[in-house]
Amino acid sequence: MASSQRPISVLFVMGLVALQGVVLRAGAGAADTLTVDQPLSGSHRPLVSKSGKFALGFFQPDNSQHWYIGIWHNKVPKKESVWVANKISPISNPDLSQLTISTDGNIVLLDHSGEIWSTNMTGITTSTVGVILDNGNLVLADTSNTSIILWQSFDHFGNTWLPGGKVGRGSKLTGGSTRLVAWKTFNDPTPGLFSLVLDPNGTSQYLLMWNSTKQYWTSGNWTGRIFTDVPEMTQTNGQVYTFDYVDSVNESYFMYNSNDETVITRFVVDATGQIHVFTWVDDTKNWMLFFSQPKAQCDVYALCGPFGVCTENALASCSCLCGFSEQYQGQWSHGDHTQGCRRNVALQTSGNSSWNDRFYTMVNVKLPINAHNTIAAAASGSTQNCEVACLSNSSCTAYSFNGICFLWYGDLINLQDLSNVGIKGSTILIRLAASEFSDRTKKLATGVKIAAIVTSTSAAALIIVVVSVFLLRRRFKGVEQVEGSLMAFTYRDLQSLTKNFSDKLGGGAFGSVFRGSLPDETLVAVKKLEGFRQGEKQFRAEVSTIGTIQHVNLIRLLGFCSERKRRLLVYEYMSNTSLDRCLFGSNQLVLSWGMRYQIALGIARGLHYLHEKCRDCIIHCDIKPENILLNDSFVPKVADFGLAKLMGRDFSRVLTTMRGTVGYLAPEWITGTAISAKADVYSYGMMLFEIISGKRNARQRQEDSEMDFFPLLAARILTNTEGELNLNCLVDSRLELDSGVDLAEVERVCTVACWCIQDEEGARPAMATVVQVLEGLFEVNVPPVPRSLKFLTV
Ligand SMILES: *[C@@H]1O[C@H](CO)[C@@H](O)[C@H](O)[C@H]1NC(C)=O
Ligand SMILES: *[C@@H]1O[C@H](CO)[C@@H](O)[C@H](O)[C@H]1NC(C)=O
Ligand SMILES: *[C@@H]1O[C@H](CO)[C@@H](O)[C@H](O)[C@H]1NC(C)=O
Ligand SMILES: *[C@@H]1O[C@H](CO)[C@@H](O)[C@H](O)[C@H]1NC(C)=O
Ligand SMILES: *[C@@H]1O[C@H](CO)[C@@H](O)[C@H](O)[C@H]1NC(C)=O
Ligand SMILES: *[C@@H]1O[C@H](CO)[C@@H](O)[C@H](O)[C@H]1NC(C)=O
Ligand SMILES: *[C@@H]1O[C@H](CO)[C@@H](O)[C@H](O)[C@H]1NC(C)=O
Ligand SMILES: *[C@@H]1O[C@H](CO)[C@@H](O)[C@H](O)[C@H]1NC(C)=O
Repeated sequence: MASSQRPISVLFVMGLVALQGVVLRAGAGAADTLTVDQPLSGSHRPLVSKSGKFALGFFQPDNSQHWYIGIWHNKVPKKESVWVANKISPISNPDLSQLTISTDGNIVLLDHSGEIWSTNMTGITTSTVGVILDNGNLVLADTSNTSIILWQSFDHFGNTWLPGGKVGRGSKLTGGSTRLVAWKTFNDPTPGLFSLVLDPNGTSQYLLMWNSTKQYWTSGNWTGRIFTDVPEMTQTNGQVYTFDYVDSVNESYFMYNSNDETVITRFVVDATGQIHVFTWVDDTKNWMLFFSQPKAQCDVYALCGPFGVCTENALASCSCLCGFSEQYQGQWSHGDHTQGCRRNVALQTSGNSSWNDRFYTMVNVKLPINAHNTIAAAASGSTQNCEVACLSNSSCTAYSFNGICFLWYGDLINLQDLSNVGIKGSTILIRLAASEFSDRTKKLATGVKIAAIVTSTSAAALIIVVVSVFLLRRRFKGVEQVEGSLMAFTYRDLQSLTKNFSDKLGGGAFGSVFRGSLPDETLVAVKKLEGFRQGEKQFRAEVSTIGTIQHVNLIRLLGFCSERKRRLLVYEYMSNTSLDRCLFGSNQLVLSWGMRYQIALGIARGLHYLHEKCRDCIIHCDIKPENILLNDSFVPKVADFGLAKLMGRDFSRVLTTMRGTVGYLAPEWITGTAISAKADVYSYGMMLFEIISGKRNARQRQEDSEMDFFPLLAARILTNTEGELNLNCLVDSRLELDSGVDLAEVERVCTVACWCIQDEEGARPAMATVVQVLEGLFEVNVPPVPRSLKFLTV
């Protein structure tokens, strides 16, 4: 095993936020020590650590009848426990209970019935005391010398990792490990199913586990500086933590420490199965969430239990599949969904009556895990065959057919409803007892009947769709037309078109782009997708959707190649490269103000089309200057749209691991709430600032310490809080001689940008509104300075 003698210190930078410290005076002389003579009962004040930072005492979680002994941040009015003693044995009356030192020297919690909880050390021979220390550690120590520690709460973390504590594993020799275990629900500290551990197999990655068996998230390995899948750690804005990794013969662990005593942080594995890091913000008198993993709550393993459906809302919500009800209603109402749902009507398991079972169709879902892929000839070929394959096995609970027949046996886990996520999902058919379909209304719920309704009531809409698809096909005169208007290429074709991929135009998150030319000498850009795991059928389906999207401000997809594991996309070629090169490049060309304004407007129109005018709303998810291409007349074209869908769940990971993207990401990417089209609006706003200034938002800040983050400066000038500066200062200095710079336009663009980057999604305008404002159709008010920007002032 590798070993390092000294801890490797690094700057562990966890957030975007610099915080004003909480300054409160410690209660002088507050008792921090528990002795035989000074026990603690419900009628006593809590024990308080020497400088008043932490308190130990009886507490009751919100909306709970139960009492516990716990530790909390004493200087924070909003009490959140960071450690709990009697997690599984609550008490009902603190006045009849006491925390004391027992005759065997342990700290014990007693109530009228006897011992409820104990530090449970054996062989204590000296007289002992309990002390609550300033780092939140409760120690059992020798009375004559409190440096001799016999037991400490830091070796028994619950759901919270405090600075200075270790979470790691012992060696094969010493054994043991410390892990964080989530509460069962937000008001019940009983250990739940979710936990955070240092990989027991010996790597340096942290894992989130379900029931100690299923891993559903990894931090990635420790590089010596960051965890590979937690790139946020490199962000240098905000509060700095020291992060130490110790990998020695006897134990391996990580430990973090705050460099600023006044910052109050809670690192918690919450009952939702996610890691949440909160920091106390005294200005708002609240805990602010600034880090969350996994980002999507529905990625937590079995969050909604068997036969539950997860929906990614502001708060992920669990519901039961049609035909199922909550297993234990009481638990569901307390927010514990892990037991899932049960059938309303049992399936017939004997005889031939199970052949009467019917299937309920759910569209736009992320399929449950553990699908069995049936390639048996009998099951392939058609939906009917797949359905028969499912009916013929009494433990089959669902199927899905997309050219290949997938069957599920037993519990359905991690089924997600994607209808509000903007990613096109699959269709699954859930097996239910025939009687579930017996009455008339329920009958309508079957797949066939739904289709019938669609044809009868929205025939008009359907016809419009069909006609427009037909027109699109006609308009494009491709040679080999397949998948709608797209050309299908072989890999060899593309090798020859691109002269064996010799002329590389650029590289992005999803692969490199090469110049090629068609036989008629039309130039094309060929993108080789990398890290791609989607199957052939799904790829073709997604690509054909992207192929039907045509707008003057969107890059047109001309064709694709899908051969074995290879996936390539062929796009129209743009001679003036990308916006980042035109704005920040070293070339002689300086985009005039007029051009910039038209570019801003064009991008807005393209995004508006993606968000609202396509058949399915498409969220781009990666708006940044690199993804805006310019044609020979500098008409902007948004590139790479639809890739979020194509890459599926890997997308957000790719995105967040990429350098450079961070500055454009909306706060909801970091906090893990659902992503809507408003995330694009945010990124667009950040990009607008760069179009105005001609510099990277982030770089400007580093270069010139006198000057703030550009969007903040702009917001302040707009709101008149930056005395002597005016709008002129914001415009790219290279445009000094451009007589076309119209300050009214500058103000308009700035105002729009500032609205776009508001923290609250609801406060950001839709792209439709942005287009109208930039077209000058109406004026908007001065926006407030976004809260998150304010935190960037140090
Ligand atoms: C205390 O320790 C004993 C022996 O080590 C163990 O059997 C018992 O379960 C422990 N009790 C608690 C409450 O941890
Ligand atoms: C208390 O114990 C610590 C650690 O064992 C030791 O270094 C220290 O000298 C002791 N202090 C006294 C006053 O005995
Ligand atoms: C640890 O290794 C074992 C055997 O190689 C493997 O089955 C298991 O999945 C690994 N556990 C984790 C958490 O990676
Ligand atoms: C968790 O694992 C234990 C033992 O491996 C098992 O008995 C229990 O049923 C599991 N819990 C759930 C909810 O599946
Ligand atoms: C971490 O390193 C181990 C061993 O070097 C490797 O097997 C594992 O895949 C790595 N984990 C990640 C997430 O890259
Ligand atoms: C590891 O543990 C052994 C036995 O407990 C001890 O003798 C040794 O000093 C420890 N090594 C380190 C580096 O702590
Ligand atoms: C059950 O019914 C199916 C379809 O009606 C039939 O093909 C099959 O032979 C029957 N099996 C038995 C055991 O009766
Ligand atoms: C049903 O399928 C499961 C999983 O493939 C298999 O273990 C079981 O034997 C099958 N049962 C019948 C009756 O074919």
